[in-house]
Amino acid sequence: MEILPSGDACGAEIRGVDLAGPLDEATRAAILQALVAHGMIVFRDQDVPATRQVELTEMLGEADLYSLSEYCLADQPEVLLVSNIQEDGRNIGLADAGTTWHTDSSYLEIPPFATLLHAIEVPVDGEGRVLGDTLFASAAMAYDLLEPDLKQRLDGLQAIHSYEAKHRARARLGRSDRNPPKAEESERLAPVLHPIVRRHPVSGRPALFVTAGECTAIPGIEEAEALALIDRLTMLVTDGRTIHRHHWRRGDFVVWDNCQLQHLAIKDYALPQRRLMHRTQVKGTKPA
Ligand SMILES: [Fe+2]
Repeated sequence: MEILPSGDACGAEIRGVDLAGPLDEATRAAILQALVAHGMIVFRDQDVPATRQVELTEMLGEADLYSLSEYCLADQPEVLLVSNIQEDGRNIGLADAGTTWHTDSSYLEIPPFATLLHAIEVPVDGEGRVLGDTLFASAAMAYDLLEPDLKQRLDGLQAIHSYEAKHRARARLGRSDRNPPKAEESERLAPVLHPIVRRHPVSGRPALFVTAGECTAIPGIEEAEALALIDRLTMLVTDGRTIHRHHWRRGDFVVWDNCQLQHLAIKDYALPQRRLMHRTQVKGTKPA
């Protein structure tokens, strides 16, 4: 097994591992260690059926269910289809996933620790270029780069994360076609409070954990000032220095660590360019 860091603020490629085959304990531990060290890891040219992806997810922790079941595989509910493909005029998967900066499901009390995405089909333009890159930003590096007085100001502050606000913000940008949540979903996906700076559950490294659009308030700070602070922190997280851009290839198996990164899916493709990903997630711990 060989680990090649991207040279950016995050990201590494792991070579010499066939994820479809058996993995021993030392390899499993090394993969987890690389994930925490680099925030995002990619294995190229992987042929991983959905059932195997769930096993791989369980090697990193407890396989978690996505917050909405609509596009999950009936016989493998841990696997969510992320796709722009339509059959009989209906989306077969979540088509608007990740189209603004975010960490996955941070609107939950316990957001997932890691997300695994396997590229089954990738969209290609007329010149053979693969579209639909994903940008990853190191929110840990963004925190490190803050001025000491801002770090001090953030100490102990919390922000409200809202599922509905996140998708309203995406819809305003024309990047979401999600149905409004049903009453049961609204109740289950009620806004939650998280620390603006979270410490990584394994490494202890602090990272900014706040996103414009999705974060609607900071208790104790007046609304306009709070929203301005959320905007400023979001800009700092997505500062050019923090970013690694992943160019997908079919067969890529990517894992990222939501406790230290944010990410953004670039939607620069449209049917008949097809994109299909299998997504699973590893259960996390309450951000602290
Ligand atoms: Fe995401």
